[in-house]
Parts: sequence; structure tokens; C-alpha cells
Amino acid sequence: MTQHKEELWSKNYSVIKGFLDPFEAKKLSDEFRVFSIKQKLSGDPQVPKSQSEYNYPSFLDILCQRCPEISAAIGENVLPTCSYARVYKKDAILDRHDDRDACEISLTVHLDGDQEWPFCIETPDGEEAKVILNPGDAMIYLGCKAEHWREKYEGDWYTQVFLHYVRSNGPCAYAVFDRLKDSQDRNYRERKKQCGKQENSAIDPDGFTIVSKRRVR
Ligand SMILES: [Fe+2]
Repeated sequence: MTQHKEELWSKNYSVIKGFLDPFEAKKLSDEFRVFSIKQKLSGDPQVPKSQSEYNYPSFLDILCQRCPEISAAIGENVLPTCSYARVYKKDAILDRHDDRDACEISLTVHLDGDQEWPFCIETPDGEEAKVILNPGDAMIYLGCKAEHWREKYEGDWYTQVFLHYVRSNGPCAYAVFDRLKDSQDRNYRERKKQCGKQENSAIDPDGFTIVSKRRVR
């Protein structure tokens, strides 16, 4: 993998072409779509028109296996927090938002779909970038810092997975392995306060996504 550090910090995102082999990406999409139908997965409060799953095992494999590579790409060690996958349906919208601390360094990986669908993100100079990914391509981005969204999907289905990390020496390291279950822990609460971003945020009922009350539009 080439070095993405400079671009990530100067643009809030960087595209990693061929993060997965396209054939492998489509195979994972097929597997997850079958799973989502069999398990009758529902959507979530952020994207009701989807079927979504937290930490699906095949995606956890990728999350953990690719950790050294992501560290090399950004020039800092990262630790995994969680993965989150969706099959988006027709008319799905991802509202403009920023993320909770566990998503400090994130990848959105496109697996397959029946249409292109731009991922939109705000750059540090206030511009809106629209990024189209092919199956297997990933975009690494700063989800806590940069607002991001998707406009209405015009196709019938689109399969995508988020891989979330924190920097092991960064302020969000307390969220390693997505320690929501430890949220009553005094040290965890103190670290979270020190990280300084939580006062404006709320946790979804499914405990995954924190959408900023201040910034949601
Ligand atoms: Fe997000």
C-alpha cells in the first residue's frame, strides 16, 4: 500500500484503490447479502432503508488482518475498534454527520452494488468532495473531524463495510475494541471526557453510531 498519510491529513480522506480484490469484494457482498436476508436484518436509526450488522465475522477478519497495513499507510499505529456493514436499499440516505471517537480512522470499503454512489466528505477548506469507489476500493477518512454523507441512492442495492480504528497513541485510544460495554468504568469515562468530543453527541439505540446533535443537518 502506498503512503496515504499526507493526503489524509490535508484532505480528510484518501482513496485506496484495490484494497480488496474486486472478485473477493463481490464474493463478500454475496455472502453478506445472503446473511442479511436469512437473518432478516433490519436497518438502523441512521439509515432505516438498509440491512445492517455490527461486527459480522468476515469483516472482523479484514478489520484485524489489515491493521498493520493501515498503520503503515498513515504512518502511525492503529488499533481496531469495530466493523459495520450495510446493504443499502433504494432511496437510502446517509445524513450529513460526524462520528464518535471509535471511528477516529475509518475506511469505507465498497463491495458491490447495482449503481455507482458517491461518498461525500467535507475537506479542511470547506469544499465538498464526492468520491466514487469501484468494488474492492476503499476510502480512508477522518470521520470524527470531517462531516460526511451520501445523497439518495437511486439503485436497488449497494453493499459496503466500514472498518474503524483508533491511533494507539492518540486521544481516542481509550475506545479500542469499541469499549462501549465498559462505559460505566470510571477510567473510561475520564478518558472519554479528556478526548473532548462527546458532549455534543448521542449514542444510537444500537450503540454503534454517534451522530452529533450539533452538526446533523
Ligand atoms: Fe459516519
